Amino acid sequence: MKATIIGTGSYIPEYILTNQELSTMVETDDEWIVTRTGISERRIQKSGDVADMAVNAALKALDNAGINSEDIDLIIAATSTPDYLFPNCSSIIQKNTGAINAVCFDISAACSGFIMALSAAKAYIEAGMYKKVLIVCSEKMSGITDWKDRSTCILFGDGAGACVVESSEQEGVKSVDLHNEGMLGEVLTAKRNENIVMNGQEVFKFAVKKVPQSILQTLEAANLTTEDIDWYLFHQANARITATIAKRLKVPDEKIPMNVDKCGNTSAASVAILLDEVNRKGMLKKGDKLMLAGFGSGLTWGTMAIEWGI
Ligand code: COA
Repeated sequence: MKATIIGTGSYIPEYILTNQELSTMVETDDEWIVTRTGISERRIQKSGDVADMAVNAALKALDNAGINSEDIDLIIAATSTPDYLFPNCSSIIQKNTGAINAVCFDISAACSGFIMALSAAKAYIEAGMYKKVLIVCSEKMSGITDWKDRSTCILFGDGAGACVVESSEQEGVKSVDLHNEGMLGEVLTAKRNENIVMNGQEVFKFAVKKVPQSILQTLEAANLTTEDIDWYLFHQANARITATIAKRLKVPDEKIPMNVDKCGNTSAASVAILLDEVNRKGMLKKGDKLMLAGFGSGLTWGTMAIEWGI
């Protein structure tokens, strides 16, 4: 059997932290932030847990897929900001969605979390082990942000995205390319009980070099070209990173939906939130080809070619 996405959901908190408000907290201004990152505002979860955002997104994905929570046999949560060391976030999602028949585990792969989780779902489904997998990515980046560090506090936001992947005769999740370079891990870290520490320029250079290479490998494995792809859904870290990758691959802007301006970088949740947005806007047609790309701390990165089947 093959794996295909049958539903999506997302949740972003109500509170909007604007560049204007940030400029009262650190020495910065709207123009600097927008020019360097493309971010105008981000959402902040003022109260509640990471799992609350996750459950909200998960219920919407189940609804969009038109299935009951009891039908789910595996929940994979991707988060770097779990509420508890244990139980894992996926078990809390199980409890609060009533997915009583699911096995639950979490993936920690920072901003590549959604791609890693989706690739795990694909592998389990293709191995015949599970049939309906709920993937939920939820992050409270505001909880590990140093609000006195202007080079990082402008970048991140909170939110959750989810999708349901089902065993199908159609090959929805076509090819996957995953990588890791732990040797370079120190360029983006958050130690337990400490905040994010980042060498922004090194992260930038890594992303614009490695992601295009990975996309070309994923395309080749799926027997597709850059032109065959209808939508490129990049990790929403920074509009300049995305623009540089697009330029290197000669991909037109119209094929690159963005929400970094409104959401900032929501780490593992970012591609999942974006996927739900474009799905709900009705932008995706059956048979459309999507390229998903995640990259971040680890260093981790991965890309995935999808054929939309809903
Ligand atoms: N407002 C105003 N000035 C700022 C600032 C801010 N928010 N943050 C940094 N600066 C200043 C610096 O102090 C520095 O000043 P100096 O020249 O007097 O020393 C100057 O701006 C340039 O800093 P630099 O770090 O070289 O800027 P940059 O062009 O590399 O942009 C990032 C910084 C973080 C926007 C950029 O490196 C980036 O986007 N990196 C990728 C980060 C990322 O996406 N991480 C997550 C990946 S998953």
